[in-house]
Amino acid sequence: MLEIRGLRHQYAGRTVVSVPEWDVPRGEASLVLGPSGSGKSTLLNAIAGLTTPTEGTIRVAGEAMTGVAPASRDALRARRIGLVLQTLHLIGVITVRENLRIAQRLAGLPRDDARIDEVLASLAIGELAGSKARQLSVGEAQRVAIARAVVNRPPLILADEPTSALDDANCGKALTLLLDQAKATGATLIVATHDNRIRERFARRLEL
Ligand SMILES: Nc1ncnc2c1ncn2[C@@H]1O[C@H](COP(=O)(O)OP(=O)(O)OP(=O)(O)O)[C@@H](O)[C@H]1O
Ligand SMILES: [Mg+2]
Repeated sequence: MLEIRGLRHQYAGRTVVSVPEWDVPRGEASLVLGPSGSGKSTLLNAIAGLTTPTEGTIRVAGEAMTGVAPASRDALRARRIGLVLQTLHLIGVITVRENLRIAQRLAGLPRDDARIDEVLASLAIGELAGSKARQLSVGEAQRVAIARAVVNRPPLILADEPTSALDDANCGKALTLLLDQAKATGATLIVATHDNRIRERFARRLEL
């Protein structure tokens, strides 16, 4: 599902991340670990096609994310990748349902409210569909961000520090939700964190 070769990224001549070779098979869950500043977000942004790495190749679901035009990267991301970023980037002034509809539209998919209801229910936030995103608690917003990442059933889910703002109980829950959603859709899941509370939940790890 993910294939990385000879990846290196520099800022102002300083190498901030180097991944010579990394493969994540379809349907696997994998953790990217490392202290603050070790390049976890840079790596996830490169996989998502949000950052162009200085060197190396990245393939997602057999398609090149590197060495292609920005429009191709955007299309590949929209079709194949669900993102949960540390800052959730929900649109606060519209409802939870509308946030998820935007994700469907950006992926070029028809509006599918039944799928939205299904994914919200599976995350136990079905009753929040009509709430404005800015009215949600941190834990609820986290669930909506997870719902938005999985609503289109992307084959690859990337989550950058999805638990850093959460207390122990919500941390465990959010992670279970991510793992369950990935399993339900057969998605490959990659989580980047410096949160040692969650390392035991993953058999596969990449240490930066
Ligand atoms: N846009 C940028 N310009 C210059 N340097 C950057 C930029 N983004 C990140 N860096 C540097 O690259 C290094 C890796 O940053 P990155 O955000 O990938 O680390 P991280 O492992 O995600 O850290 P954290 O755990 O704090 O989120 C850091 O030293 C950071 O200062
Ligand atoms: Mg980071």
